[in-house]
Amino acid sequence: MTPDSIRQAYRDAGQDQVFAFFDDLTPASREKLLRQAAAIDLTEIDHLVKTLVRGGNASPIDVTAIEPAHYIPLPRSGGDPARWAAAKAAGEEALRAGRVAAFTVAGGQGTRLGFDGPKGTFPVTPITGKTLFQVFAEKILAASRRHARPIPWFIMTSDINHEATVSFFEAHRFFGIEPGLIQFFSQGLMPAVDFDGKILLAAPDEIALSPDGHGGSLRALVRNGCTGKMASMGIDIVSYFQVDNPLVHCIDPAFIGFHLLADSELTSKTCLKAYAAEKVGVFVERDGRAEVLEYSDLPADLAEATDADGRLRFRAGSIAIHIFSRGLVERMGAALDPALRLPFHLAKKKVPTVDAAGQPIEPSEPNGIKFEMFVFDALPFAKEPVIVETAREDEFSPVKNAGGNDSPATCRADQLRQWTRWCAAAGQTIAADPTGLPEFSFEVSPLFADSPEAFQARGAQAVVHEGVCLEG
Ligand code: UTP
Repeated sequence: MTPDSIRQAYRDAGQDQVFAFFDDLTPASREKLLRQAAAIDLTEIDHLVKTLVRGGNASPIDVTAIEPAHYIPLPRSGGDPARWAAAKAAGEEALRAGRVAAFTVAGGQGTRLGFDGPKGTFPVTPITGKTLFQVFAEKILAASRRHARPIPWFIMTSDINHEATVSFFEAHRFFGIEPGLIQFFSQGLMPAVDFDGKILLAAPDEIALSPDGHGGSLRALVRNGCTGKMASMGIDIVSYFQVDNPLVHCIDPAFIGFHLLADSELTSKTCLKAYAAEKVGVFVERDGRAEVLEYSDLPADLAEATDADGRLRFRAGSIAIHIFSRGLVERMGAALDPALRLPFHLAKKKVPTVDAAGQPIEPSEPNGIKFEMFVFDALPFAKEPVIVETAREDEFSPVKNAGGNDSPATCRADQLRQWTRWCAAAGQTIAADPTGLPEFSFEVSPLFADSPEAFQARGAQAVVHEGVCLEG
């Protein structure tokens, strides 16, 4: 596209304000603005403005038609141990056959944590301060050694943290993973608009852009050639997890096996809600199709409703851990028809912008709208979706906030509690408070052991004391 044709397209779309300061810009600034402008799909923005911004944020959700979603319970909650064993065996076979890739979404802005750098570079373990990326790397390495097969790792970044993420891995020699097995790629960006649907400028030569949500991962995997690469490597199973949860089993044979045995396109993990008002989305069924309902859309009476045995009816919380079949990613990530791809959601935000004279404005109230896709919205599009229970204490302790809930402190404590349980199962009792928090700190590398069974198998080596880190 030429500069003139780009500007004409913006005029035709009623978005000419993007070029309000163009004539006063230096050649380099003009080129930058034109490059950003050319990358925006104006037809998509126009559709979103008409349907979401002016259309009043879609129709209200009809909650009268929802039912709790079915899920496969853990053996400890009544699940069939033989079924779990069969799933584990099927997953292990797929891993030995090299059909599985790990996939981390790490393109978020991490505003709540307020850490200066990509969130994956945040130190998270209690003794050695290993970063989130290192913990995942060690878990992936441990799984690949166990199954005698390399496990490729796809990492989605965004423009705000791509270079810092790649440099971090280079500086740490990819944590021992063969560099060719790790593929970094940036997700898409979306412009913010004002309440009239006009694209906002962050500066006279810069459009206000932000990542298009974790749901942007599906089309980013396709557009960056990752699904093609997976196909050429014989990979058809994508193990998806977020960058903020060091407890996640990055590669979980039983989870993979349930996906395969059901011939599912999307299998998701659930943790049972701790209490009715807990702010997690829940798995529900509507018209026979599974979906995740955001906590804000679940009316209080339904959130509090209990079944005959006194448990919450809508208890299957969503914790952002999924297995995608490559086919679903390809189909949804490449779809052009908005009805066949992930929907966008809008969020009213404070978007730094410029006034009519090009001077910066730091709004104190929301002044704009950002568009994001959520990956769990793929569920109703998937054939044979499956939901599998996992134990919260074993798999979910995200680092979201600088303090309080879901913070570095709560996450360190949850890691310590988990290793303390492993010690107890292996016959080493450590004094702990009533919540299971041990009296002293220590650490267990995933390369030493990544499960209670692996810990126990280390025999006499699996002994901890204050300040120790058991390495692989
Ligand atoms: P969060 O919803 O916690 O958002 O992302 P965030 O941007 O990391 O943090 P806040 O809300 O600004 O504090 C959940 C996961 O989805 C990824 C994040 O990196 C994290 O792993 N994500 C989120 C993306 O990869 N891209 C996005 O556009 C948004």
